[in-house]
Amino acid sequence: METNGKVPGDPLPKNALVVVFSYHHNNTEKIAHIIANVLAAPVKTPQEVRPEEIVEYDLVGFGSGIYSATFDASLLNLADRLPQVNNKKVFLFSTYGAPAFVANREFIEKNHAQIREKLRAKGYTVIGEFGCAGWNTNSFLKYFGGLNKGKPDTHDLRNAEAFARNLLLLTGIGNKNTTWKLP
Ligand SMILES: Cc1cc2nc3c(=O)[nH]c(=O)nc-3n(C[C@H](O)[C@H](O)[C@H](O)COP(=O)(O)O)c2cc1C
Repeated sequence: METNGKVPGDPLPKNALVVVFSYHHNNTEKIAHIIANVLAAPVKTPQEVRPEEIVEYDLVGFGSGIYSATFDASLLNLADRLPQVNNKKVFLFSTYGAPAFVANREFIEKNHAQIREKLRAKGYTVIGEFGCAGWNTNSFLKYFGGLNKGKPDTHDLRNAEAFARNLLLLTGIGNKNTTWKLP
């Protein structure tokens, strides 16, 4: 039995948690599972998380599709209800539907601004932010097959994995021997 140096009977370490809201085409959920696999973290929806539970983890990721230029209200609302902490590590990730020529690092960070500020105000430290394109058939776009069809693609999933591996380096949390395969 693998004990990781722990005495049998010790409570299991909580380590990392990934919280995601994804409904349009489950684009962000795909990213969530890639990251969670590297971090050996459970994936929960904002509805499944109790605000007090967040402080039991060493690292928490918050992810959402971008709707009206920000995270879903369920995550913004969760951030509002989180307990005040002192320097707990979190990270942010999202998928957006804007065309590639609009979407640069600044665009991604702007989409994250509202939740980032809420988390910072509560004492959380954002140690990484990830964003990539996702298939978008919102509104009239559905009549033209949508934007970013096929996204996130294999390239995006690999970038998400690299992002998560960097979180491992920054925190030492997770599953260093992950042997998952791209779908
Ligand atoms: C109601 C709605 C509003 C959206 N607003 C934006 C937006 O403001 N900016 C943007 O880049 N994409 C926008 N999108 C596109 C989504 O961010 C994109 O499709 C994303 O990948 C959806 O993630 P999900 O499949 O995880 O829900 C919007 C999509 C919907 C359905």
